[in-house]
Amino acid sequence: MPDPRDFTPLISQRTRRGASDAIRDILAAAASPGVLSLAGGLPAAETFPRAAVRDAVDRTLSHSGTAALQYAPTEGVGRMRECAAELAGRSGAPTTAANVLITSGSQQGLSLVAGAFIEEDDVVALDDPSYLGAVQTFRAAGARLLPVPCDRDGMDTDVLEARLAAGVRCKLVYVVPHFHNPTGAMLSPARRRHLADLADRYGFLIVEDDPYADLAFDGIRHPSLELSHAGVIRLMSLSKTLCPGFRVAALVAPARLTAVLAGAKQHTDLQTNTFGQHVVAELLGTPGFLAPHLAGLRSFYRDRANRFAEVLAERTPWLEFEKPRGGLFVWCALAAPNADSARLARAALDAGVAVVPGAPFCVESDGTRRLRLSYAALTAERMRDAAGRLDIAYARTHLVPQG
Ligand SMILES: Cc1ncc(COP(=O)(O)O)c(C=O)c1O
Repeated sequence: MPDPRDFTPLISQRTRRGASDAIRDILAAAASPGVLSLAGGLPAAETFPRAAVRDAVDRTLSHSGTAALQYAPTEGVGRMRECAAELAGRSGAPTTAANVLITSGSQQGLSLVAGAFIEEDDVVALDDPSYLGAVQTFRAAGARLLPVPCDRDGMDTDVLEARLAAGVRCKLVYVVPHFHNPTGAMLSPARRRHLADLADRYGFLIVEDDPYADLAFDGIRHPSLELSHAGVIRLMSLSKTLCPGFRVAALVAPARLTAVLAGAKQHTDLQTNTFGQHVVAELLGTPGFLAPHLAGLRSFYRDRANRFAEVLAERTPWLEFEKPRGGLFVWCALAAPNADSARLARAALDAGVAVVPGAPFCVESDGTRRLRLSYAALTAERMRDAAGRLDIAYARTHLVPQG
């Protein structure tokens, strides 16, 4: 007799395929009192524009109070779509509201794209390593992943071309072209052109997931892949540049595609939350708000990244890394040949610091000696403590006893 309380056999393949406990467990432990976290991708709470949000909430309630509390169209609130189109146009092709679908975070954008395009065993090519949320989403949708190696210039498009020339056909190529999560890579101009050329020749869509482009420490906003190719679905998260709590993001694509994706969204959640969209549109439309806010963020994270690089060089000389050029992460390698980042991550938690081992981000590549560290959340003093604790954990797990 099956146990009537055990419903696990009833769980769909889709849900099982997408599950990953590795990072969830670490993030849960990272929230414990006394643990310093280098693990999460959470933006620093002190960067949230709380006063500007308060004013935007007040203005929203005074001027559009009823509409802001009502249902809204699936595609998004008109003002928010226009605002997103304007923002997208600054770094991409000219865009109108018809090209924009407002989603509940870019994570929902990914989910809608996977649901709308991927059938069982369709191929999705992506950087290896890649953003775990995307790996899980495409896996859950039944995709076969085609991992493409990457370096500091992003996806190695020569390898992609060789696979395509050998007969592999992919529907989507997923890239995080700016300050990649987890590697920090920037897709080089030559590889962008190459990718666009391959998309023309082989007829795949490019999914450009771009939450970090505005966090360039040199202040240069690199253009969207849209300028190189028409078949781009662009995911514009606001989580790292405003705050994640509203769950308001924009998906920008050719209008026929946004209409298809809006159809899929309708039966997912009807719409993204109306009030959040009104407030975010009000905030982004506030004269003189966005440019100084972004400049402040860049300088805040640049300082943190520089400080973190100094702290790591001083306290954890056994870690190899490249100084970040933007975004929130450092992708580190453990120098010792016997190193094992999963073992280190467990020992680190015992020593009171949370870090994420590399393996869960890796599809085919070897993440055993890799660690993703985030400098976003800790002050200089706490960074020093965290790196000191990591060094203790390393000594416990990897130092070979002398003599
Ligand atoms: C590459 C990438 N895409 C998407 C997301 C999720 O963004 P959102 O909060 O808009 O769902 C993240 C969050 O860490 C990310 O790093």
